[in-house]
Amino acid sequence: MITPRLQCIIDHTNGTKIADIGTDHAYIPIHLIQNDMAEYVIAGDVCQGPVDIAKANIEKNNLSDKIEVRLGSGLSILKNGEVDTVIIAGMGGQLISEIIDSDIEIARECKLVLQPMNAQYELRKYLIDNNFKITDEDIAIEGFKVYNVMNVQNGAQDKFETDFEYQIPKYLINHKYFRNLYDKKHREFTKVIKGLENSKDVDAKKLELYKYWLGELEKYESK
Ligand SMILES: C[S@@+](CC[C@H](N)C(=O)[O-])C[C@H]1O[C@@H](n2cnc3c(N)ncnc32)[C@H](O)[C@@H]1O
Repeated sequence: MITPRLQCIIDHTNGTKIADIGTDHAYIPIHLIQNDMAEYVIAGDVCQGPVDIAKANIEKNNLSDKIEVRLGSGLSILKNGEVDTVIIAGMGGQLISEIIDSDIEIARECKLVLQPMNAQYELRKYLIDNNFKITDEDIAIEGFKVYNVMNVQNGAQDKFETDFEYQIPKYLINHKYFRNLYDKKHREFTKVIKGLENSKDVDAKKLELYKYWLGELEKYESK
């Protein structure tokens, strides 16, 4: 089933030979092939359970000749030059950066479509510090849930001017779902600040940082 999050990932995918890393159910590969959006897809997952589910779904749709399922971690299942586009979606931002870093030469050769479930700040930092460029970023919403989808490729990008921009890049301020993102980040920052203020052994540096982020965010309250 193609939810708004998956649709947003698909809308940002533009390739011929595509890998979907952490494919789980293989909904994205199936949709890409059924809609002539790719020649073939390699669907990878590190766990046997998802691999079995992916294979079953692919067979049910008679697409085994166009989608190959591989068991293994991250980009290690790919050979150099085998695909032009890599999707890594539905995982934490930290794990996504580890997957890229483990096989960075393969990552540099491909267009990347990334959809981190958390740690977007850390992922943007990792990417920009390691000579990757965020060429586009979108927001998808499902109920109260807010998702970021990033197009990334090899290449230098100017560092963001402020630390806050790694949390909320300026280019998202005018997005139609900015208000959803604002509310999500506001809840997140407020919760962390309250937790820190109520802890016996306050991490003063972390508290200061979150207060700075919250203050910067609230400048966009009327957006
Ligand atoms: C929550 S699912 C996301 C499924 C799908 N990509 C989506 O966005 O709906 C995360 C999947 O990533 C897989 N995964 C976790 N770490 C991985 C890794 N290092 N390499 C490949 N797959 C991994 C998990 O086994 C799981 O099937």
